[in-house]
Amino acid sequence: MIKVNENYMKIQASYLFAEIAHRVSAYQEANPDAKIIRLGIGDVTEPLAPVVVAAMHKGVDDEAARESFRGYGPEQGYAFLREAIAENDFKARGIDISASEIFVSDGAKCDTANIQELFGDDITIAVPDPVYPVYVDTNVMAGRTGVAENGRYGKLVYLDSTKENGFVPNIPSEKVDLIYLCFPNNPTGATATKEQLQAWVDYAKANKSIILFDAAYEAFIRTPGIPHSIYECDGAKECAIEFRSFSKTAGFTGVRCGYTVVPEALMAYTKDGEAVALRPMWTRRQTTKFNGCSYITQCGAAAIYTEEGKAQIKATIDFYLENAKLIKTALTDLGFDVVGGSDSPYIWVNVKGDSWGFFDKLLKEANVVTTPGAGFGKAGEGYIRISAFNSRANVEEAIKRISKVLA
Ligand code: MLT
Repeated sequence: MIKVNENYMKIQASYLFAEIAHRVSAYQEANPDAKIIRLGIGDVTEPLAPVVVAAMHKGVDDEAARESFRGYGPEQGYAFLREAIAENDFKARGIDISASEIFVSDGAKCDTANIQELFGDDITIAVPDPVYPVYVDTNVMAGRTGVAENGRYGKLVYLDSTKENGFVPNIPSEKVDLIYLCFPNNPTGATATKEQLQAWVDYAKANKSIILFDAAYEAFIRTPGIPHSIYECDGAKECAIEFRSFSKTAGFTGVRCGYTVVPEALMAYTKDGEAVALRPMWTRRQTTKFNGCSYITQCGAAAIYTEEGKAQIKATIDFYLENAKLIKTALTDLGFDVVGGSDSPYIWVNVKGDSWGFFDKLLKEANVVTTPGAGFGKAGEGYIRISAFNSRANVEEAIKRISKVLA
């Protein structure tokens, strides 16, 4: 009799966005005429930048000719892309990250999910609440969390992000080994200042902890002084892994590409206290389990680092940020307490009540899909998240409908 991994039985619910998709399609089936507007999952709607499309076409042409054909690529990503990343995302900001510390992948979701394989079974893990569900669920699958009671896993340390702390969690009083942080935050849209991030880095260094820093929404930062990378903080290369995504930055949700930075100086420890470098471990993991992101995709990703590419993707993000501003203003005018919506594509709305109930109300009465805050954790109850990823016409129509239902 073959046994299953019973940790899967501890997972509390189906994957949040799969559950929402399920509810929305059930509603659509029952109401075929409803013109549903989706402001739920943060999926982009605007087409790829022209430079990206041209570079991908060129990549296809390369694959079509014997002289330029490429088969398996380097698991860590092609040097042309890793060098462009190191130069533009880090050196240009005064951060010394080299191409050899960058691992190109098929997206930040997979990397944030897979990275926990590098760590021991018995480590203490701190997760923000509310939180992107992938961080928690992957640790549940790996057996590190214990069982859930009243919406919380016994062995996790929860870092509440609330109105009181400006949605930037306080540093725990106890020692934790692994800390997940995400700024600009998913789901709240909150940002952290350099001082706040530096305090986390100082804590991690003092406790020999590691920070997993998800910077997937970094490109939405417009306020000067807000850090784009954890490596802007002193000492972060000794205690942090950073995840980046081209999904929201350059519309790659369907194309799939992102990267992870594992600095050379980053160490974890054996149970005997011997230091082990994580970069070679991640290399080993990727070379064994991953065959690299496609050449064509990487050609497209590299194009966003050209001057033309930078201008084109900035224009698209500015467009989404304008959507976010419209949504934020409308909800504020309706009398709601709102966070996010600037430096972020997400608007976090205090609905002062059952968030799945509010989700259902907006779905049924306004035909607008949002994300219930409770799906991101216990501290998300009472909130909904609205995504600014949509066309202007849909955002304006959604605002009109929401205002009618909630006025
Ligand atoms: C979200 O809506 O939170 C994101 O789209 C999920 C993701 O990036 O995987």
